[in-house]
Amino acid sequence: MNPSNHIFLRALNGETLERPPVWMMRQAGRYLPEYIALRNKYDFFTRVQTPELAAAITLQPIDIIGPDAAIIFSDILVIPQAMGLEVLMEEGKGPLLPKTIATQNDIDALETSGAAEKLHYVLDALRLTKEQLAGRVPLIGFAGAPFTILCYLVEGKGSKTWEKAKQFCFTHPQLAHQLLQKITDITIDYLLAQVAAGADAVQVFDSWSGSLSKADFELFAQPYLLQIADALHQSAPVILFPKGSWYALPALAKSNASAIGIDWCMDAKTARQLTADAITLQGNFDPAKLLATPAQIVQWTTDMIDSFGTTRYIANLGHGITPNVPVANAKAFINAVKSYRAKA
Ligand code: CP3
Repeated sequence: MNPSNHIFLRALNGETLERPPVWMMRQAGRYLPEYIALRNKYDFFTRVQTPELAAAITLQPIDIIGPDAAIIFSDILVIPQAMGLEVLMEEGKGPLLPKTIATQNDIDALETSGAAEKLHYVLDALRLTKEQLAGRVPLIGFAGAPFTILCYLVEGKGSKTWEKAKQFCFTHPQLAHQLLQKITDITIDYLLAQVAAGADAVQVFDSWSGSLSKADFELFAQPYLLQIADALHQSAPVILFPKGSWYALPALAKSNASAIGIDWCMDAKTARQLTADAITLQGNFDPAKLLATPAQIVQWTTDMIDSFGTTRYIANLGHGITPNVPVANAKAFINAVKSYRAKA
């Protein structure tokens, strides 16, 4: 099969479709018993750094629940590792960076070259996955957005408020911009290498951009997202996911991105208005709704497609799937989209 004919890539291309394609953020992961079996055998970064394991985990949801795209199993925190920092993943707790970034010297010491060599295992995993997919569905590569990576570099771990990261941006804007530019440079190289290794599209996760006001998003997030979209769009379609940053939709709709991901705090009609119906939207099912009954999930999913329409739309969740979602419920969501037929 020529992957460019695939419904997922056609949606990114803005083509008229009878039903939207569907995939789920974090679909390769914690709610699947087959994943937990591998997690019990190998630690997190062993799973990420072993191409055979990463490919097997990427394919699990394709075989088990049947979405229209695969996303490579990896993590956004491989970029801090490639910049020379240690990143630990504490099972059940999340990421930990023992050394955080605070000063000019810290920033100067960060490496920005050699992403493709240092992260060769991701590229090997992409090539292997591509081979094993044999054209069944397209493969998505990804990276964290510069602001979201800055959050982890400055705080060293997850946060509800990202107060330290924001304090750094607000009190040392010059340092923040140097840091954001360094992250952007290595991220562009890394994403281009992912496309060369077979990624059919790339998604940029700005998971924490919603902690910024519109004005601060325009300073610390948007310019770097635009640089990435500008550098990538001739090689592969780019999906930007600035979670929570609904105010950014008008500007991002005019960017070189092919799609924007949105969360469930925004309704389809408002999102279409803010984007002047000019770009593909991706989202925005509340992952917590996957904890309801399959019948309810089918109804809500159908309602969601009714409101977005079948064209310029990719059905997805508004954020990652959570560990306690029953596999049958994830399947109900995917199948509801795949069997959707527009009302006459
Ligand atoms: O989407 C996929 O299925 C591909 C794999 C993927 C992972 N992380 C694997 C993973 C992707 C796309 C990511 C992106 C990622 N990583 C983001 C952005 C996406 C988002 O949800 O906003 C962020 C913020 C991270 C950083 C990160 N990695 C955190 C905060 C954690 C721990 C908390 C958690 O969500 O469990 C991780 C660990 C992680 N990355 C897991 C998985 C499957 C869970 C740990 C495990 O299974 O051992």
